Amino acid sequence: MLSRKEFLRLSGLVSLAGVVGKSAGASQKKRKSGPVVVSTWDFGLQANAAAWEILKNNGYALDAVEAGVAVPERDPRVTSVGLGGFPDRDGRVTLDACIMDEQLNCGSVACLEHIVHPAAVARRVMEKTPHVMLSGEGALRFALDQGFKTENLLIPQVEAAWKEWLKKADYNPQPNWELNHDTIGMLALDKQNRLSGVCTTSGMAWKMHGRVGDSPIIGAGLYVDGEVGGATCSGLGEEMIRIAASHSVVEAMRSGKSPQAACEAVVRRYYKRRGELAHGKQVCLLAMDNAGNVGAFSLMPGFVYAITHEGKNEVRKAGYLLEK
Ligand code: GLY
Repeated sequence: MLSRKEFLRLSGLVSLAGVVGKSAGASQKKRKSGPVVVSTWDFGLQANAAAWEILKNNGYALDAVEAGVAVPERDPRVTSVGLGGFPDRDGRVTLDACIMDEQLNCGSVACLEHIVHPAAVARRVMEKTPHVMLSGEGALRFALDQGFKTENLLIPQVEAAWKEWLKKADYNPQPNWELNHDTIGMLALDKQNRLSGVCTTSGMAWKMHGRVGDSPIIGAGLYVDGEVGGATCSGLGEEMIRIAASHSVVEAMRSGKSPQAACEAVVRRYYKRRGELAHGKQVCLLAMDNAGNVGAFSLMPGFVYAITHEGKNEVRKAGYLLEK
């Protein structure tokens, strides 16, 4: 038996999540006018603004998402992405990222150190190698070959936080969502109807060295198929990996569900399968179909996302399944 009360807010969700299309079924989708970009959490506003500069000038969605997430990657105030990200329990900042275009081209880096922009390195993996994923030392060597420069990602205030954690060194890994931010995942549809996505993070604070979450895993943290739509995730990566979350959302859209209905269906199925094991975890899903309709849903409250369309940039609350 599930001990928590489920809050199935079906009626309220439409306005909460700002869904436009009723169904992603091919025959029923109405293309929103102009480009659309969405990203996880409220720091997505600045990221979307950078992406919008490219999209509004008829640029490519892939360039837009890479430029967009470069903003939080470089921002030392964002402690869950790039420079200034919380380190692992050994004090090493290790970054995960992936990128994907409308034709299923994709690239990824996992456990990359010393490079501020892992999403840009992931794109080079996609474009310059016959592979999809590089990890650790090999990813770093590739980045250096590509001209990326090393920097110290462990900035003084984050090093101080790590040293504070070391006093107890209580290994109870939690996602950063308690801080109301986590991974940035971004999806963009450009004027030429090309859809791309990216996902980038420093992962869970104080994780075991070598731990890799969902963010660099194609199908878990991100999936894009220009025929259907894209999805990206935030929250506790282990949970997203279990359910191939982003791919599951895209496949639900392929079968005719709207982005909103697809996100809800995947969260509900996750909870049905995991029950008590899901308590205390967070799963946040964000999706966009190839007509620019958007949906979002999470297991627990607190998930917000940024959406930019027709030059208007705003944060919206996602619906959720369970109260805390
Ligand atoms: N969602 C980011 C992570 O768990 O690493």
